[in-house]
Amino acid sequence: MQKFVITGGVPLSGEVRIAGAKNAVLKQMAAAVLTDELCTLRNVPKISDVAILREVMGDIGFEVRRLNGDGLELHAGEVSWPFVPLEVGMKLRASFILLGPMLARFGRLILPNPGGDRIGRRPVDFHVAAMEAMGATIDYRNGYYFASAPPDGLRGAHIEFPTITVMGTENAILAATLARGTTVIDNAALEPEVDDLIAMLCAMGAQIQRTAERRIEVQGVARLRGTEHRVIGDRLEAETFAIAAATTRGDVTLNGIDPGHLGAFLEICDRLGLSYHADAAAATVVIRGAAGDELRAVDVRTDVYPGFATDFQAPLSVLLTQAAGASTIHETIFEDRLDHLRHLVKMGADIELLDERRARITGPTQLHGAEVGIADLRAGATLILAALAATGTSVISGIEHVDRGYEQIEAKLVALGAQINRIEA
Ligand code: EPU
Repeated sequence: MQKFVITGGVPLSGEVRIAGAKNAVLKQMAAAVLTDELCTLRNVPKISDVAILREVMGDIGFEVRRLNGDGLELHAGEVSWPFVPLEVGMKLRASFILLGPMLARFGRLILPNPGGDRIGRRPVDFHVAAMEAMGATIDYRNGYYFASAPPDGLRGAHIEFPTITVMGTENAILAATLARGTTVIDNAALEPEVDDLIAMLCAMGAQIQRTAERRIEVQGVARLRGTEHRVIGDRLEAETFAIAAATTRGDVTLNGIDPGHLGAFLEICDRLGLSYHADAAAATVVIRGAAGDELRAVDVRTDVYPGFATDFQAPLSVLLTQAAGASTIHETIFEDRLDHLRHLVKMGADIELLDERRARITGPTQLHGAEVGIADLRAGATLILAALAATGTSVISGIEHVDRGYEQIEAKLVALGAQINRIEA
């Protein structure tokens, strides 16, 4: 097992290149299933979630090849075994994104009830209902979904999600591209990663339009062609480095990120009194923690995009320990996403859990190093951020969760001056 050993208190400074977005690339890999032509993705992050999906797609019978640099080539020729094993589903919830494209192009898939981060119940009933509305038959037996499309293929349908779902929206779009007729998706997600998927699919020849703020219409086509697509920058990685700069009172330039995707986060920076400069044309954001501005307490509530992302609630809590006064955090998307707070308390934070989804953080407090463990990807990033801001040395275990979604995080932090080492323990 590997651990991070971090000695905090060093102001970070310099430039960091933000990798392609995890939550975009995984869906774009699945999009390649929709054509028998070659697809090439650029700006593909070197993270373990990509490696796992690559392996799963390889086992199904597709060729997925890393290119030099940040490219990935995908060719979905023939299926040898339309099956996703349970061990993979346990590790990678996003493996469920193969359901839509596999049903649309090959008419069948057996896949497990997915696992992933332990941040709530995370059912897949909306995905299943969407595929059934398009004519698929889905039986659930012994932990697996046995899914098949009718012999004449999926048909367009009207799908209205009971609550907004990112991957549910994406699965429905992917399935609808090759379905007969028109699919209307209501209460659809607005996340930039969804739009990046739509951009790739349209370049492949799909007919997809947002016809109202939360309505997407897909006109099914007979076939799609290959394409080359550049994955958007990862807004969550960008925000993580922004907080690392702010909590260590450093100055960091984030390159390769569209500031337009960070709207809710930058609005919180304004309320906190944190200085930054965003340049959309250059795709950069400079975070000026060294400006020494005293941070003000804020109340934040997670929401679907364009609201403040649930994925970023945990990392932000570290910054709130450094703001003057009482801040509150309200997690509205997942049931079980405040677990990191008890680790922050261990590191000296003043935090009161108000109920299962709300907490009060009073600051500023000087965090100190501790031995802590990670339960999920974003909680892992949170503990790294806390350790960077703390005095003394911290040892963080369970870092495989961080490797799922952050490309070479310690190398990037070391380049900014951080003292972080990966050790075998
Ligand atoms: N939901 C259902 N049934 C479904 C699907 C979702 O009840 O069939 C519920 C969920 O339990 C949750 C809410 O709907 O309460 C929203 O979940 P959503 O479907 O939007 O989540 P997701 O698509 O599975 C993606 C990201 C997550 C991110 C959420 C919310 C990927 C691979 N994952 O998950 O990212 O937290 O959207 O924005 O895109 C992460 O990157 O750390 C991460 C967990």
